[in-house]
Amino acid sequence: MALTTPLLEVKGVTLTFKGIAALTDVAFSVEKGRIVSLIGPNGAGKTSILNCISGRYTPDCGEIYLDGKNLLAVPAHKRTGMGLSRTFQNIALFKGLSVLDNLMVGRHHLIRYGILSSIAYFGRAMNDEAEHRRRVEDVIDFLGLSPYRHQAAGHLPYGVQKRVELGRALAAEPKLILLDEPMAGMNLEETEDMARYILDICEEWGATVLLIEHDMGVVMDISDKIVVLDFGSVLAQGRPDEISANQDVVAAYLGTEDATFFGR
Ligand SMILES: Nc1ncnc2c1ncn2[C@@H]1O[C@H](COP(=O)(O)OP(=O)(O)OP(=O)(O)O)[C@@H](O)[C@H]1O
Ligand SMILES: [Mg+2]
Repeated sequence: MALTTPLLEVKGVTLTFKGIAALTDVAFSVEKGRIVSLIGPNGAGKTSILNCISGRYTPDCGEIYLDGKNLLAVPAHKRTGMGLSRTFQNIALFKGLSVLDNLMVGRHHLIRYGILSSIAYFGRAMNDEAEHRRRVEDVIDFLGLSPYRHQAAGHLPYGVQKRVELGRALAAEPKLILLDEPMAGMNLEETEDMARYILDICEEWGATVLLIEHDMGVVMDISDKIVVLDFGSVLAQGRPDEISANQDVVAAYLGTEDATFFGR
């Protein structure tokens, strides 16, 4: 694993808000084709890391590389074009737009034609449009969203909205997909479906996954590697079996969770 360059490398990332540290010297990597999970108690800094990667936050110091390219030198709005997409802890869909259109928005960085060029090159624009629709339909089929295709996203049940968010991130054809608690608030069946989708995104769609999730049963089941954050620092990282046997991790969690925490 160590012989190939990781898809994502986070090195020495420190982030403060008005002098208060949210992240301190955070370092980990995500290897291509893997599912890596970030876990840790509430306020540990998990979402802050995702925000540093996506460009919503700028770290005080440290480096982040995607496919060997320095991400911090790239403005947030251009990072999608580098192969990065994400979902949000609080659903962030265009509520008035249909499912189909929300997914099309996920592809906006791939759409090459503007109004002028679509007048000048009408044929090409039509072909491109058909191709974008086809890709979006593939995502809709994969996530079982066909019945909701033309419905406004904001009116859908919560669990379906979470799937639409995943669909929008996937429609962007990411190399790395960042998922912030995709199972939060879901029932058991929806959680199992979501776990299956995440595995398939990695195995069949060829994307690499960085996942934040509190459901330890799922995390232990589907992760290749787990990075544990506590008070903004990496407490431990390793394979699921190494993490569940790590005394520091167990101790950090035992204050807030019972012994069934790791779902074993
Ligand atoms: N925009 C912000 N302004 C000020 N403080 C912030 C901001 N974003 C995060 N923080 C602080 O940084 C710390 C880490 O927050 P973060 O949201 O990254 O935690 P988390 O691990 O995602 O928690 P949760 O499991 O509750 O989602 C917290 O103390 C939080 O209050
Ligand atoms: Mg969070």
